[in-house]
Amino acid sequence: MANNISSPQNGNAPIYANIIGWGMAVPETRLTNEDLEAILDTSDEWIRSRTGIHERRIASEKETTASLGLKAAQQALSVTNLVPSTLDMVIVATCTPDYRFPSTASLIQNSLGASQAGAFDLSAACSGFVYAIQMAAQAIRSGSIKTALVIGSETMSRVLDWQDRGTSILFGDGAGAVILQASEEVGGVLSAVLRSDGAGADLLGIPAIPNYVTGDRKLNKMYMIGRDVFKFATRVIHESVIESVEAAGITLADVALIIPHQANDRILQSAARSLNVDRERFMTNLDRYGNTSAASIPIALYEAVQTGRIKEGDYIVFVGFGGGLSWGAIVIQWRVPRPAEVHSSRIAKQRRQFSYLRARVRGRWKYWRRRLRMLVNRVRPNYGRIYRLRSKIDEYDFEDDE
Ligand code: ACO
Repeated sequence: MANNISSPQNGNAPIYANIIGWGMAVPETRLTNEDLEAILDTSDEWIRSRTGIHERRIASEKETTASLGLKAAQQALSVTNLVPSTLDMVIVATCTPDYRFPSTASLIQNSLGASQAGAFDLSAACSGFVYAIQMAAQAIRSGSIKTALVIGSETMSRVLDWQDRGTSILFGDGAGAVILQASEEVGGVLSAVLRSDGAGADLLGIPAIPNYVTGDRKLNKMYMIGRDVFKFATRVIHESVIESVEAAGITLADVALIIPHQANDRILQSAARSLNVDRERFMTNLDRYGNTSAASIPIALYEAVQTGRIKEGDYIVFVGFGGGLSWGAIVIQWRVPRPAEVHSSRIAKQRRQFSYLRARVRGRWKYWRRRLRMLVNRVRPNYGRIYRLRSKIDEYDFEDDE
């Protein structure tokens, strides 16, 4: 599908979906190419020259896709005046969720105290963030919601076959997040191109059932035919960037910055050449994080904003590609002032802190209440004081609306 937002919705003035907050989080632990030399038949020279990657971040045992996503989300909220209860929707793009269900989005929604939000995960591998932005933007533009939190978060280190030097050198862990909000000001997500070709499923994937474990493939571990993915990536970056820019009614020359999925520096060089765009207009940070799948675009966006590479009014393009095969591009007109001019009020900060604390206490309370109830139920239910205690436990609950 390709679409733009030039026509008003339902005869009313058009609603635009602007990005108003951005955040990122990566684990502390760095894994350098030299560290990989110690465990694999590879070299720093090979990895740098073939991919541009110098190091990547690896989640500790305690860090998860949800915990990294939560940190990125809190940072994204911190550049706005919003409190979590104003969020209408939480979408997490990920291929490494903490659970098959509940969704990682529900875990984050709960930890934020986003009591009015729906939440779901979106699975489109490395294209997931682009897909998720478009889903949120469509919901905003249709008028059905006002504010959405979109997160790309991954712990790729948990699905890598660490003996496979063709994949394990490429990936890292991390999360990025944005807040989108309805606005009457022209801008935000202007166009989107989303595509898929499931015939390429055998090029890149993670088998989740034994039926798909053939040859060298391992259950729940990533496989990839790198050379074919490389060719696919350079082709679709070119096509989808051109198509999305045309759908937005601008030209490539109007685009200030292209933020691509950070897969391989050579892919980006080749795409820049084929689009005839100066390499400097392609944002890159994969030397420090490697390929963080659905998290790579929002992490690169965060760094681009913080380092002043995006100014108010700029047109930027996100372009993602990966497993599915899937790919997509969106054009955004940036509508927020420079980070230094963005303030979150003290009251909003305090209310957010209270929301996080309350969410923690509420979660613990619900957990212990269930345990307590189970314990009490084991005792004869009608037995005087125990019965009254059980009724009290059942009665007491947190008010869900603030
Ligand atoms: N260290 C040393 N040698 C290696 C390594 C390594 N880590 N990996 C492969 N080699 C060897 C190969 O065995 C091969 O040796 P041979 O010629 O003796 O057989 C040689 O290097 C060349 O291998 P290729 O696979 O052809 O290397 P290529 O130049 O294609 O680079 C790479 C491999 C980096 C994986 C590249 O193909 C690539 O980046 N592909 C795209 C990956 C990508 O973008 N994935 C997106 C995934 S996004 C998602 O949805 C998860």
